[in-house]
Amino acid sequence: MKPFVTAIVGLALLFVTSGCAPLDVAAPPVSTLHLSKSANVKQLTEGREIYASACTHCHGPARIDRRTDEKWSQKILPRMCPRAKLTPEQTAAVTAYVMNARKSLLATPAN
Ligand code: HEC
Repeated sequence: MKPFVTAIVGLALLFVTSGCAPLDVAAPPVSTLHLSKSANVKQLTEGREIYASACTHCHGPARIDRRTDEKWSQKILPRMCPRAKLTPEQTAAVTAYVMNARKSLLATPAN
């Protein structure tokens, strides 16, 4: 029984420390974001759908608020979008979604 408990605790720790979280926490739905009037809601919605599907094939949904804008735009997205085999349009949609979600999350501090 003991190895089993150790495994569960280990997995739980990995889950917490890796910044994975339930989808709505990691990547809030577009309807909950504070968007500017010029925001392209259709593109953002598509981007969030991609984030919730193609971006969770290999790992859980990564928390958008846990990395800086710079890290997202210069390191993570350029590396991960090709891994998810996204088209240029899908890449643009995910990028727009992540950037808008970050702005919105920073504007409304997490509970
Ligand atoms: C083919 C598998 C695969 C797909 C698809 C994938 N990832 Fe990843 N991702 C990984 C692996 C493996 C790592 C850990 C190693 C690394 O950073 O390269 C990782 C790490 C990450 C990290 C942590 C990086 C850090 O430095 O903090 C984030 C955030 C992330 N992925 C987001 C995404 C997003 C967003 C997408 C969709 C565009 C995506 N991933 C699609 C395999 C994948």
